[in-house]
Amino acid sequence: MKLRAWMLALAALGAATAVAAQDLKTPSSDQYVPRLGDIMGAAQTRHQKLWMAGKAQNWELAAFELRQLKANLVEAAVFYSGIPIGNVATLEPALQSLSDAIDAKDGRKFAKGLGELTDGCNACHRSLKRSFVVIKVPSEQQPFANQQFAPTGKP
Ligand code: HEC
Repeated sequence: MKLRAWMLALAALGAATAVAAQDLKTPSSDQYVPRLGDIMGAAQTRHQKLWMAGKAQNWELAAFELRQLKANLVEAAVFYSGIPIGNVATLEPALQSLSDAIDAKDGRKFAKGLGELTDGCNACHRSLKRSFVVIKVPSEQQPFANQQFAPTGKP
């Protein structure tokens, strides 16, 4: 599937995603292609921040982190042909359920969705001989001490 098709698929999951990508004028693939490990490192950061935002019930931030994370996964599949598109597509139900949970501000559904998403991360790692990269639902540890996760209450 080509980049455009992926962006459309992504847009179906959250219309704001495509808009956000356009606004920021993401470089095209001939300008800059991040290494897969770097895309995944960013995905790991977003996965953690998504969880922390959801836990803090900052649904606006959670929605933002979810969009960022989805974009990372799409980029991985678009830029790296060795990654089967199907492996990313199988994450769609979990991504959708997280998106629904955020819209509904439903903490329990959010936690379930994050668990399913995490299983999806690991399923792909296993299938591509990266079973040593094990992602888990974060514990209480605070790795991003430089960012406030509680909602500010300001526009
Ligand atoms: C479609 C397949 C696929 C999915 C889905 C996927 N990954 Fe990965 N991931 C990979 C591959 C392949 C590598 C190994 C990259 C390499 O060898 O450079 C990797 C590596 C990683 C690494 C190690 C990067 C490093 O340099 O230390 C992290 C962290 C990671 N993934 C996080 C995640 C998270 C979090 C998710 C889910 C939100 C996820 N991945 C979903 C394929 C996937």
